[in-house]
Amino acid sequence: MSLFRKKPVIQSTSNLKQTLGAFDLVTLGVGAIIGTGIFVLTGIQAATNAGPALIISFIIAGIACAFAALCYSEFASTISEAGSAYTYTYVTFGELFAWILGWDMVLEYGVSASTVASGWSGYFQGLLSQINIHLPKALTGAFNPDAGTIVNLPAILIVLIITFLLSRGVKESVKWNTIMVIIKVAVVLLFIIVGVFYVEPANWTPFMPFHFSGVTAAAAVVVFAYFGFDAVSTAAEEVKNPQRNVPIGIITSLAICTVLYMIVTLILTGMVPYKLLNVPDAVAFALRYVDQGWAAYFISLGAIVGITTVLIVMMFGQTRLFYAMSRDGLLPKAFSEVSKKTGVPVKGTWITGILVAFFAGFVPLDKLAELVSIGTLFAFAAVCLGIIVLRKTQPNLKRGFRTPWVPVIPILGMVFCIFLMTQLKQLTWIGFIVWLVIGLVIYFVYGVKHSKMKNS
Ligand code: ALA
Repeated sequence: MSLFRKKPVIQSTSNLKQTLGAFDLVTLGVGAIIGTGIFVLTGIQAATNAGPALIISFIIAGIACAFAALCYSEFASTISEAGSAYTYTYVTFGELFAWILGWDMVLEYGVSASTVASGWSGYFQGLLSQINIHLPKALTGAFNPDAGTIVNLPAILIVLIITFLLSRGVKESVKWNTIMVIIKVAVVLLFIIVGVFYVEPANWTPFMPFHFSGVTAAAAVVVFAYFGFDAVSTAAEEVKNPQRNVPIGIITSLAICTVLYMIVTLILTGMVPYKLLNVPDAVAFALRYVDQGWAAYFISLGAIVGITTVLIVMMFGQTRLFYAMSRDGLLPKAFSEVSKKTGVPVKGTWITGILVAFFAGFVPLDKLAELVSIGTLFAFAAVCLGIIVLRKTQPNLKRGFRTPWVPVIPILGMVFCIFLMTQLKQLTWIGFIVWLVIGLVIYFVYGVKHSKMKNS
């Protein structure tokens, strides 16, 4: 039974200053959400899976995330301890499931950081080529001898630079984040305003060249574009009136991104025949395609800045996830050893950085993105289930925000997330299962003996 030992719910407030309001949280959310998904995956998915119907894929994925977001909001307004879904699961289902979820969330943060870095590299190289600088082919992409690429060097370099900054205790300040978010949203709007004049409605037919199954397959991948909204919940301890503001932050940032994504997708597939969109920097490519190189240039710059903020959030999230798991005794102490000088888990940050850099350098972006999707959808489904269970097991907890229509909304969330998981390729499932089995082995060899809950 000790495998199912649960953590008590901690509802006390921390000593961190509570300074963030709803607006800060919305910018935090948008900063964590808009990135590689919309700037890169849209092109590849339009060309290979959905065609112009990609907008429907985004709607399906957005609905799944909206249900999950309502459930995250309830947890975030109930449990103030760091660790997001990992901690929620510890409280609700006990240690073994918390470990499985924490390990699964390495896909959501760590592997997602690799994916985002790979997308960053695509735009960085696109920008370099606009000023006629070309890297040697071997250094431009993941390991693929047939295509002549060995390693994605820019992706590795950006990860190491960010690791260095994080290890020095540089955390994005709210002000800095707001500036980056404004730049990012501005380039998305620039794309919309310029692009709309070059839409050729003929490009929208055939609308669904790969049938509805292609649309759902694309939805399972582009759901990646929405990930990050739960990052808002990690700031809960520093929010004024969190019971009201955290749900507003999560839901508003998700709503803004959904609307922007739908418009961008519609314009992108209207500007360029979908078959041509299989490129690493689709949004800039579309503008170059219609001879608006100047706008493509700004978009590339903005995308590079914007994708960097996502990378920081994801890598930061991963180091803190390892930190929380290590503090609970489930991972070695090195991950939670905090440097006295900087207050940062330096060793954990470097181990994370090196792993993220490795995956970003050698594994292709589409394979990474699918692994992130399956892992994150699994975590979302677990959070939805957790809401139903915690309402039953601890009905009297103070809940600042209550998910409406429980159990209908959580059940719909689970149905959507599990359905999207089933749309991913067999190879992705095999990768996911192997990942979980590795996790279970680590737990039974290490975690089960070192768990703080066991020893307390
Ligand atoms: N939603 C984030 C992105 O698209 C992970 O980059």
